[in-house]
This record gives sequence, structure tokens and C-alpha cells, in this order.
Amino acid sequence: MGTQATLLGIESSCDDTAAAVVRVSESAAPQILSSVVYGQDQLHAAFGGVVPEIAARAHAEKLDTCVAEALAQSGLALPNLDAIAVTAGPGLIGGVISGVMCAKGLCSGTGLPLIGVNHLAGHALTPRLTDQLSYPYLMLLVSGGHCQFLVVRGHDDFARLGGTIDDAPGEAFDKTARILGLGQPGGPAVETAAQDGDAKRFKLPRPLLDRPGCDMSFSGLKTAVLRLRNQLVEKYEGLPYQDRADICAGFQAAVADVLSEKTRRALEVYLADTPTQPAIAVAGGVAANQTIRTGLEAVAQAHEVAFIAPPLSLCTDNAAMIAYAGAERFLAGERDDMTLAARPRWPLDQTSPAMLGSGKKGAKA
Ligand code: KG4
Ligand code: ZN
Repeated sequence: MGTQATLLGIESSCDDTAAAVVRVSESAAPQILSSVVYGQDQLHAAFGGVVPEIAARAHAEKLDTCVAEALAQSGLALPNLDAIAVTAGPGLIGGVISGVMCAKGLCSGTGLPLIGVNHLAGHALTPRLTDQLSYPYLMLLVSGGHCQFLVVRGHDDFARLGGTIDDAPGEAFDKTARILGLGQPGGPAVETAAQDGDAKRFKLPRPLLDRPGCDMSFSGLKTAVLRLRNQLVEKYEGLPYQDRADICAGFQAAVADVLSEKTRRALEVYLADTPTQPAIAVAGGVAANQTIRTGLEAVAQAHEVAFIAPPLSLCTDNAAMIAYAGAERFLAGERDDMTLAARPRWPLDQTSPAMLGSGKKGAKA
């Protein structure tokens, strides 16, 4: 039997309180022994976005039961673990502090090693948890708070090829839904309405496609949707369902086009280093969108590159990814101690310039 490690992971950087137990071993695929996620959607529903203070308080209240549930479901107790991994950033700082304090308390009580994990590394390493992808692979992270291309070369070696300069695509989906009076979260609502729509009726902008590189922008698209809605409402004194559906289809097609074209460019940069088993993986809630996914798959296929989309429950925020990323650090001999700090910003690639701005779902890093 090779080296084996079982870790508890804790995640509280945004609006999901999560705990999970994951076992990794050198001789077998990683195992998720439990993964518990408590969402906070209802707490924030009335505010049109995540309210950091409410989120932090809810994390602080729920973390202990969440951890207890994850341990119970795994059939293990704290003494059976080898380490505790916790998201130490980037994210909404009150929530991150809640998680880090919880992990420190558990570690000081049990003597277990403490491992701080970058939330984005958790997402970026998920295809290794689910599909044992070998390094280096290309990662497109698309969610309500993040949008970036990363070449993942090692558990602590990431090259950022580009990302959004303003909103994340999920944010744009959510805002579009709000503008059109559809429900939240906006992504699934817009996707459903788009099924009844004609993507060609309204031509929406494809921001930054005319510029080289892999950077993206989605805030202009949302403004275009707002302008279009206002024009239609003025003309017809209302917004019939078909118009809404056509706007959704046009918006979704614009996002899909931008993501596909920028992915093509990112793939070219990644493939220039001739990886032996080339692969592109996606993570984040927006990767659930069928039109976007089909577009990305086509780009991957055209370049003869494997396309990996982990199951949605592991694409969106969860603690299994944190436990797994912590396990990679643990097996590499890395440890943190009680000086581990919660960080609101923490770019994965220390060499490329940090992204500015912070979305409704927290720091984009
Ligand atoms: O990864 P996630 O659960 O949370 C973070 O942002 O961290 O992603 C949530 C985002 C929301 O903005 C939601 O509207 C979007 O993912 N989303 C979708 C779809 N399902 C969820 N966007 C487009 N199409 C979907 N089917
Ligand atoms: Zn996330």
C-alpha cells in the first residue's frame, strides 16, 4: 500500500458553508467519503446578491454542524484524520475568517496538521480529484465570481493566461435575469428561457473579441441587455415572453461565442508547450450551461484535446475540492500553523498582474 491521507476540508469563502472528507492514496483514485454543502440562497434572496455580513454570520453558525455531518457521513471521527484543510482565501473575508478559525480550533484540539488552501486552487485541481488528470492541463474557471484561464502545472504552479476584466459570466447571467424579471439564480432561468428564443433576432456585442489575448469582459453585455429591454418596453409598453426569450438566447449566444473564441486562443498558448496528454477542464456553475459547454467541447475536439467537465456538484463551491487540494499540499510535505491568515485576495499566479474589482460573489483575485 502506498502513501495514503484522509483529510477534512472546510469551505466558507462565499455563500456556501461546506465540509467534506476525502481520502487520497498513491495507488488508487481519490475517494470522496462525504461532502456536505449548506447553501445560503434564501438568506440573501431579498438583497439581489450575497450580503457579506449575513454570509459570515451564517457560516459561523453552521460550520460546526456542517463538519459534524461530514464526519458522520464519512463514518470517521477526528482522530481518524491525517490533517484539516481550510479555504484561507480569496473570498468574502468574514466567511473566510469563520472557516479558518473553525479549522484552527479543531487542529489545536486534536493536534492535527492545518493546511490552508486557495479556493481557486480547489476549483483548479478538481479534475485531478474526479478524473486523475495529469499536469499540465488547461483550466477554464467560469462561475458567479470567477472567470479565468489557467495552465495548471502543479498543485502550486499555475499560469494565468487571461480572465475577465470586470464581471464574471455568472454575474452577467444573474443580472440579465434580474433585468428581464426572471428568477434567481439567473443562469438556469436564462438558459431555460433561451430554449424558446431566437438567438439571431437581437445581435448583442462580443466584448474584447477584436483584441488579442485571453482577457474577457462581460459588463458591457449586461448594459446592452438593459438598453434593449428599455427600448422594447417603451415600444410595446411591456415585455412579452417571446421578446424575453429572444434576448436570453441572444445573450447566451454572445457569452458562448466569447468563451469559445477565448478558449481557442488559450488552447493555442497551452498547446505551444506540447503537453503529452493535452486536456482542458472546466469548473464553476456556468459550466453547467449546455450551449456554452457544447461550444467549448467543439473547440477542444477541433484541437484533439480531451474535454473534462466534472459533475456539477463538484464544479460549484464545495469542500471536497478543498480537502483534495489540501491533500496534495499535505502529501508534498507542506504544513501551515496557527499564524495562517485569512486573505480576501490571493491570486493563484503570483507573476501575472492581479485582477481588479470584486463581484457580488466576492473577490475575483
Ligand atoms: O460556481 P458557482 O456555484 O458559485 C460561484 O460563483 O462561486 O456558480 C454560480 C453561478 C451563478 O451566477 C449562476 O447563475 C451560474 O453559475 N449558473 C449558470 C447556470 N447554472 C448556474 N449560468 C449559466 N447557465 C447555467 N445553466
Ligand atoms: Zn468558487
